[in-house]
Amino acid sequence: MKVTEAEIVISAVSQQQYPKNHLPEIALAGRSNVGKSSFINKLIQRKNLARTSSKPGKTQTLNFYKINDLFYFVDVPGYGYAKVSKKEREKWGVMMEEYFATRDVLKACVLITDIRHEPTEDDVLMYDYLKHYELPVIVIATKLDKIPKGKRVKHLNQTTRALNIDSGDVVIPFSAETGEGKDDAWHIIRQYINH
Ligand code: GTP
Ligand code: MG
Repeated sequence: MKVTEAEIVISAVSQQQYPKNHLPEIALAGRSNVGKSSFINKLIQRKNLARTSSKPGKTQTLNFYKINDLFYFVDVPGYGYAKVSKKEREKWGVMMEEYFATRDVLKACVLITDIRHEPTEDDVLMYDYLKHYELPVIVIATKLDKIPKGKRVKHLNQTTRALNIDSGDVVIPFSAETGEGKDDAWHIIRQYINH
């Protein structure tokens, strides 16, 4: 997709702040620091519209990015960062639940995993949580640039197996460094937007 317009519309912490114009939404999910914001930037070809950081915990709110007046990418704070207090973790849970449980314009969720490692327990929980809400999940196995080509299939199989991927869902190898997997990601996102 050629992105001609991309802008942040709101950083929301509660439902009342979500956009009200009923455009379809594609949300992001994944461990803290796995590359959610980098994925958005690569797809929309903006260097740092979605703020990224080498330190975990950069994204703290639900950030709605309006793309081409067509749909929203919703960047969300990551999970699994050990240094987060119990209180912050609860806040995160409430914010996520409020969004995922009620948002009827949400068409699919992009779950980002690190292709180098077997998905964590939290990744499995997140995948199951999204399936509980009967959401289509697009698994993006990112940081593809960090593994040798000969090991790709092995790592992809590991991801698919550990998450116990539904037959309707896909796993796409991706790199925000090289842009590999970008066209495949757009292809499927576009299908869900038009649903
Ligand atoms: P939080 O907002 O903290 O949850 O993190 P996030 O998931 O949004 O991660 P972010 O996009 O900020 O990226 C975290 C770090 O990983 C940054 O240093 C990125 O440059 C790096 N990174 C993200 N994607 C890739 C990739 O495909 N390849 C490589 N080599 N590095 C990546
Ligand atoms: Mg982020």
